[in-house]
Amino acid sequence: MADLPNAAAAGEFRVGGDIPVHRLGFGAMRITGKGIWGEPADPAGARATLRALPGLGVNLIDTADSYGPYVSEDLIRELLHPYAGMLVATKGGLTRHGPDIWLPLGRPEYLRQCVLMSLRRLGVERIDLWQLHRIDPKVPREEQFEAIAAMRKEGLIRHVGLSEVGIEEIEAARRHFPVATVQNLYNLANRKSEAVLAYCEAQGIGFIPWYPLAAGELAAPDSALSRVAQRLGASNGQVALAWLLKRSPAMLPIPGTSRAEHLRENVAAAELALSEEDYRALEAAAR
Ligand SMILES: NC(=O)c1ccc[n+]([C@@H]2O[C@H](COP(=O)([O-])OP(=O)(O)OC[C@H]3O[C@@H](n4cnc5c(N)ncnc54)[C@H](OP(=O)(O)O)[C@@H]3O)[C@@H](O)[C@H]2O)c1
Repeated sequence: MADLPNAAAAGEFRVGGDIPVHRLGFGAMRITGKGIWGEPADPAGARATLRALPGLGVNLIDTADSYGPYVSEDLIRELLHPYAGMLVATKGGLTRHGPDIWLPLGRPEYLRQCVLMSLRRLGVERIDLWQLHRIDPKVPREEQFEAIAAMRKEGLIRHVGLSEVGIEEIEAARRHFPVATVQNLYNLANRKSEAVLAYCEAQGIGFIPWYPLAAGELAAPDSALSRVAQRLGASNGQVALAWLLKRSPAMLPIPGTSRAEHLRENVAAAELALSEEDYRALEAAAR
């Protein structure tokens, strides 16, 4: 077993200042059916993926009540409860109406139901990191933040995260509770959240880039990414993850997969050291 990669090589980040995690985590959205709806096509493969996490040193898991819905949280509990040394971060605030259909619902009573039901499904008394999946534009955001602050005060939630937000929204939320993490779309090819990343790094907020493996045209056969990957004997995805890890000490990538062999490959990216030269070549190609 000595040749297994370990996420510890990515270094550590303290979520909310007091929960240490290895910076390379796991996104548990892909252990569900097509369109993130229903049971996974390969339930044994999804279970094997979750079972492999502790042995690979992965101790940050990202899920949501809406993944399945419920399928992802249920599987995580089945395979990993009582989560020794792991941070299982979940989210709420989105309703599901079929494959690939997600609608925000931020009414305070619904957010409370989300948290209470995630507590039951995950089998915990407190959610260590609960993330508001989206701010619902139909509900005054102050009402959503107040509901979350109340649940934090009550001890149902330890730390709060936000998803798909700008700096102004983070600051508005911080008037109600400390923001421990921000989860925005970010990868080598999509850098729209660059300013949010800089803000998070400066404020000690963890930045969780979703869709971290995407590299768009950068992954073309003769691209800068492919050339670096080839030279290092790594996959394009591994180089994309290594680049993210080098980009910022606040970066907490959560690549998602339903297959144990892909998980091992992704975790091995934590051990891939990019030279300054390669890092800058990728940076230049991406801009
Ligand atoms: N906050 C939000 O709004 C939001 C939105 C989307 C996602 N997320 C979170 O972010 C996590 C990551 O995002 P994501 O799953 O969309 O994108 P991703 O991790 O960049 O990519 C996942 C896709 O890549 C494939 N893959 C993974 N590892 C691979 C490997 N080593 N080789 C080949 N293919 C590989 C997976 O298929 P296989 O299953 O076949 O490996 C899957 O189709 C999600 O799991 C979820 O927790 C959050």
